[in-house]
Amino acid sequence: MQAFQRLQNAYRAYAAQEQFGQGQPQELYQPLDYILSLGGKQMRPILLLMAAELYLGQNIETALPAAYAIELFHNFSLMHDDIMDQADLRRGKATVHKKFDTNTAILSGDVMLVYSYKYLAQSASGNLAALLDCYNETAIGVCEGQQMDMNFEQMQSVALESYLKMIELKTSVLLYGAMKMGALIGQAPAEEAELLGEFGRNMGIAFQLQDDYLDSFGDAATFGKRIGGDILQNKKTVLYIKALELGTAADKEQLLALYQQACPADKEEEKIETVKAIFERSGAKAALGQAVEAYRLKAVAFLDQLPKDQTDKAPLYQFLNFIMQRQH
Ligand code: IPE
Ligand code: IPE
Ligand code: MG
Ligand code: MG
Ligand code: MG
Repeated sequence: MQAFQRLQNAYRAYAAQEQFGQGQPQELYQPLDYILSLGGKQMRPILLLMAAELYLGQNIETALPAAYAIELFHNFSLMHDDIMDQADLRRGKATVHKKFDTNTAILSGDVMLVYSYKYLAQSASGNLAALLDCYNETAIGVCEGQQMDMNFEQMQSVALESYLKMIELKTSVLLYGAMKMGALIGQAPAEEAELLGEFGRNMGIAFQLQDDYLDSFGDAATFGKRIGGDILQNKKTVLYIKALELGTAADKEQLLALYQQACPADKEEEKIETVKAIFERSGAKAALGQAVEAYRLKAVAFLDQLPKDQTDKAPLYQFLNFIMQRQH
């Protein structure tokens, strides 16, 4: 069996035992089972397990609570992110604040974060302090990135470097953390843990760039989130930044005007189509593709440097390819 499948099975078997739905009050706990039952790619726990496996061999049981902890953190961040982004759809289903209500999504998200720490603390690794430190830095980074993302909604123009910093924080820090925590649990040498972390960080930047691409140009049937959601929220993604840089004066003016205010409900589809056409003809869409490839190559270069057998590293190369081909 492929390492990916094996680790996914191990993760899912562990997660299946840990149910929240029996907890009281049920209004607090049901949303946790709900969002977790919608699945998702579970890439963060699998990455953590892959990093751990490089050092523990197939004895990855000690890494499972931390793997679960990181997926709980991710799902907590999604519950709150969907409130902040006014998103109605997640993994093809109603978001928690739509299915239940906003207060529920806030509090259920909070308790999910606390449970995440509870599982992390169960990690049998000897260096819990280092693990916690890495986890905390990661979690703080995600919040900082999320605030930058919201600040940018209100700004007319954002420098590409600022956008890249923002996505590094809100998204790729968590992939860095997943790799690093897996390496810490496996007691990897510090330089190797760092190389694995950097592999995760660069994969994460490529991954978020691609998420921004799919948000506009993905297939509604597979993406699981509303196509054009970022456009309606006036998100300053790389598509917007590049369109302002590369587009004609007329396109630039129209884009700025469209992103100046909230969109009336009956004009949403029109705005999405107009903006997508500008993203396309300005060359922003093509520029994004090049940026994804550049970060993918950076990730590969870090993994190349890791002093491990090619066969041991193969699952990570394969995982990167799998993620780069994602449609959801
Ligand atoms: C969504 O993450 C949030 C981003 C950082 C883009 P994923 O695309 O990993 O979401 P799931 O868990 O697979 O649904
Ligand atoms: C998500 O960024 C980052 C976090 C949840 C921390 P997005 O807002 O782009 O994620 P999606 O597109 O809603 O999954
Ligand atoms: Mg967001
Ligand atoms: Mg969002
Ligand atoms: Mg997105």
